[in-house]
Amino acid sequence: MSDATPFVLILYYSRSGATSDMARQIAAGVESVAGIKARLRTVPPVSTTCEAVDPEIPEEGAVYAELEDLRQCSALALGSPTRFGNMAAPLKHFLDTTSSLWMNGALIDKPACAFTSSSSLHGGQESTLLTMLVPLLHHGMVYAGIPYSETKLIDTQTGGTPYGASHVAGPRSDRPVDEHERALCVAQGRRLARLALALNQMST
Ligand SMILES: Cc1cc2nc3c(=O)[nH]c(=O)nc-3n(C[C@H](O)[C@H](O)[C@H](O)COP(=O)(O)O)c2cc1C
Repeated sequence: MSDATPFVLILYYSRSGATSDMARQIAAGVESVAGIKARLRTVPPVSTTCEAVDPEIPEEGAVYAELEDLRQCSALALGSPTRFGNMAAPLKHFLDTTSSLWMNGALIDKPACAFTSSSSLHGGQESTLLTMLVPLLHHGMVYAGIPYSETKLIDTQTGGTPYGASHVAGPRSDRPVDEHERALCVAQGRRLARLALALNQMST
């Protein structure tokens, strides 16, 4: 595919790997749609001591996101572990650097979704997803959840919500993404890719 191929930016933070597993499933959903690809990007951890610096390129996994990734994307999937019912600070820290994009309206009318992983089933997945939506609305993005036509939303005994894909990683954060959770990640990626292509067409 050429460099001009539209892409869905999958921007996430993950410390123990659960959210990055979900990101890869969402990417599979995006890439099941012809004419669009997935770009996986992460953000560095943040520290209360400003002396702490990370290498420019992470030792493993996706590379760090730049504002340019956001400006150029056709859609955004934003992923974070649930932390006290909210998104993790490193991701919020990155979003707090996006005011130049906000001032230029660079993200207006682009579709977006959110995904999260938590230790426990009732540990705040929904509040995390709903609060992740707030900065996206400030940017003028079009939020896409998961419709109940995805019947695994009804059957799941673990993660998966109409507000976005989710995963229950368990108390030791080692429970793999299960069949229902994976199917909903893929469905969310596919839906976002299709919306991106449709909205791209509307704006041309
Ligand atoms: C500071 C902190 C706060 C957390 N808060 C919650 C929480 O509110 N609810 C919950 O179920 N899990 C909570 N967790 C657990 C993580 O959400 C869970 O381990 C998640 O799967 C980690 O994702 P990752 O593997 O992508 O880092 C918290 C973990 C940390 C480190």
